[in-house]
Amino acid sequence: HKIYILNGPNLNLLGKRQPEIYGHATLADIQADCEALANELNCEISMHQSNHEGAIIDTIHQARVDGAGIIINPAAYSHTSVAILDALNTFDGPVIEVHISNIHKREAFRHHSYVSARADGVIAGCGVNGYTLALRHLGQLLNQ
Ligand code: DQA
Repeated sequence: HKIYILNGPNLNLLGKRQPEIYGHATLADIQADCEALANELNCEISMHQSNHEGAIIDTIHQARVDGAGIIINPAAYSHTSVAILDALNTFDGPVIEVHISNIHKREAFRHHSYVSARADGVIAGCGVNGYTLALRHLGQLLNQ
């Protein structure tokens, strides 16, 4: 099973960006953790990051024809993007939304996510472990 892991704007700076909120792990660290776990789960990972809304949508369209599941951290686009929600609504497989921080504990403008209207599960506030937690769940779903 191929699982797309999509990351939105500013997540390329993970590890350097507000480490008091997002921690010190980088996107490469997350990818390594997910790849190690993917082996165990009989899954293949396709890792992506973009600072551009349209590029994220293009990758969702790619996942639509190629992917079994999606893990997405839409970052700030969570709170603004009907277009990413619409793109995810063209995808038939399971979608898990991940936020490194607990968006509900933060500013009010982060409390609402458009993507949650499509997500089958949401993980927030578990740090970068959220990605492997999401992957473990998807692996279980897809292997059953
Ligand atoms: C985030 C939370 C968002 O509110 C923020 O804009 C991000 C990252 C998280 O992973 O905690 O860029 O999605």
